[in-house]
Amino acid sequence: MKKHLLTSCLLALAFVAVGQAPKQAPKLTPRLTLDLSKQDFKVSPMLYGLMTEEINHSYDGGLYAELIRNRIFKDNATNPDGWSLVQPDTSAGASIKLIAANPDNVPNDERRHAINGALTTCLRLTVPKAGVRVGIANEGYWGFPVKASTTYKASFYLKGTGSAQFGGRRGGPQGQPQTPPAPVIENNTAGPITVSLESSDGKTVYATGTIELVKSNLWKKYEMTLKTGAEVMPTKDARFVISTDRTGLYYFNLVSLFPPTFNNRANGNRIDLTQMLIDMKPKFLRFPGGNYLEGPDFANAFPWKTTLGPIENRPGHKGSWSYRPTDGMGLYEFLMWCEEIGAEPILGVYAGYALNGDHVDAGPLLKPYVDDALDEIEYVTGDAKSYWGAKRVADGHPEAFKLKYVEIGNEDWFDRSNSYDGRFTQFREAIDAKYPQLTCISTIADAQYPTMKVTSGKKAEVLDEHYYRNSWDMFENASQYDNYDRKGPKIFVGEWATREGTPTTNMIAAIGDAAWMTGMERNSDLIIMSCYAPLFVNVNTATTTAPKAWQWDSDLIGYNAMSSYGSPSYWVQKVFSEYLGTVIVPVTALNVPSQVRPPRPQRPGATPNATPETPKSVPTLFYCATQDDKFVYLKVVNALGTVQPVEISLNGVGKVKSEGTLVVIKGEKPDETNTITEPTKIVPITSKLKGLGVSFKQKLAAYSVNVLRLEIVK
Ligand code: AHR
Repeated sequence: MKKHLLTSCLLALAFVAVGQAPKQAPKLTPRLTLDLSKQDFKVSPMLYGLMTEEINHSYDGGLYAELIRNRIFKDNATNPDGWSLVQPDTSAGASIKLIAANPDNVPNDERRHAINGALTTCLRLTVPKAGVRVGIANEGYWGFPVKASTTYKASFYLKGTGSAQFGGRRGGPQGQPQTPPAPVIENNTAGPITVSLESSDGKTVYATGTIELVKSNLWKKYEMTLKTGAEVMPTKDARFVISTDRTGLYYFNLVSLFPPTFNNRANGNRIDLTQMLIDMKPKFLRFPGGNYLEGPDFANAFPWKTTLGPIENRPGHKGSWSYRPTDGMGLYEFLMWCEEIGAEPILGVYAGYALNGDHVDAGPLLKPYVDDALDEIEYVTGDAKSYWGAKRVADGHPEAFKLKYVEIGNEDWFDRSNSYDGRFTQFREAIDAKYPQLTCISTIADAQYPTMKVTSGKKAEVLDEHYYRNSWDMFENASQYDNYDRKGPKIFVGEWATREGTPTTNMIAAIGDAAWMTGMERNSDLIIMSCYAPLFVNVNTATTTAPKAWQWDSDLIGYNAMSSYGSPSYWVQKVFSEYLGTVIVPVTALNVPSQVRPPRPQRPGATPNATPETPKSVPTLFYCATQDDKFVYLKVVNALGTVQPVEISLNGVGKVKSEGTLVVIKGEKPDETNTITEPTKIVPITSKLKGLGVSFKQKLAAYSVNVLRLEIVK
């Protein structure tokens, strides 16, 4: 698309503002002219989507509705994180202990408690004295969402005394350390075991029930529901307790509690967060990462095969963001999530590069990884006659999922060995051969990494570019795509964000986002897909027993156990996606004022620059327009802290209805924002526009993102 005129206008204005002597020129009102007669370029139908990975407790403690933290006791080999002993009367002498926590060193008397290869560590509650209440408590992911008249599904594996005596091959491995032997307690007696959701101090019980313990030394799964009363006041200050007043050794594993989920799907997702995503009308979901796809090392790349089937079969793995994912959100759940929000999967397949810098060379050593990706695609798209397709059918989804794009790896520009060219080509050729209908996305952007780009074999059709910037960078680069090569590959902006504000972004970040999005939208003949990252953040700070929940500042949607909110950036995403035409409308601009970008602050300790940075000038208004059969959608961003008037003209159209719609997202200060306690300070405000025509004036509020919907009279 020819954008040169527009860009040079902006640049000319910028230079005027920076280089001019203080002679005061009369201030001219900015003018935007939309040419509706030109319908040359279509808006990409997949322009706006979502990117996701397990970061900031996005799934565990986030979207994945499981409420029990450390449900299979593998989070920490030396401590049952998230769990504590309940023993109001300490004379009861009860205790809890992790059993077989370190797989490389299981003491003899801790053997024979594994349920299967995934559930190998359990928690033992020792109760030497009868008649007093003792139990195990889980603190949840920074609390539990206790709400009135709500039914929670609880389940856990439990067994009693009887198997603690070592019964394997005599002696066990030489030098095997012995832990203090378990006290001799008669086999647990059958009887009720109490399960409750109660306040953290145990004084208020919100919901309770019992299961009947069977006298057995074999594992048995117990299931029940807990229902809160209509009078219960909402709180997250709660714990989940399994307790008894009878002596015994009680072994627990896979303790689970689910609130109602979206569509009541078993092992499903949180309702509020799912709804927030649906409201964004995302066209695709890029998963499972991000760094999370790659893993910290080869052994911990996203292990899609062990994320399938019953949660009993999921050992979890070492994630990329400092905590251990349960893999409750497995490949099948990702796909169901896509379906629930009406998004198409963009499947990231592991491509043999790990975050520690290791890579697998293209050739025979890479073949198993390529085969694994082919299996994964078969799981997503294969029919019931295929091996992996049949597994998906068995998991509950007879129809193939829609799939068009497969991304080979993530951010492979970090692989300084330059092996990506060969790795990408090997994956692409194998995928092309078996699935010619699919398009492979390369993670190396030609423009950013010209020396690393894929050159062997066929040229990649789509490139994934990532940008994490501040608002000044966004303003400076908002026209970046205006002059991109139209004969080259299409661009997928697979991760981007204006990183200001924490844990979620603030108003100036949202302004930076919107400025950047105008550039992507008016170039959406080239930018076929884009998605903000990271999507989710659990906003809890550290407590005495749990670490801070997030690892990455400036995220889109924040939440705790109880509630959620959209950052100003979230609302920008939502309105950009909601008010979008099908055809790009060219816009020319006159008199756009500029502002001078302050010099970048020096990093603490850095040698001061000998030559100070030349001040740069950036526009203060950003814009783009699209149309469909009925409406024109004009997006205008005012990056100044003062009101800006703007004159708007529509060429190539006879008449425009005098009434239209204005959606504004605005803030008084750059750092103004939404929080978990003030969730709706900045939200879109919709109002009627009056007195419209083919030419009209509009005042843009300070720090505002404006969407004008104008109706064409045919
Ligand atoms: O979005 C956070 C991280 O940023 C992603 O995991 C990675 O791809 C990028 O570097």
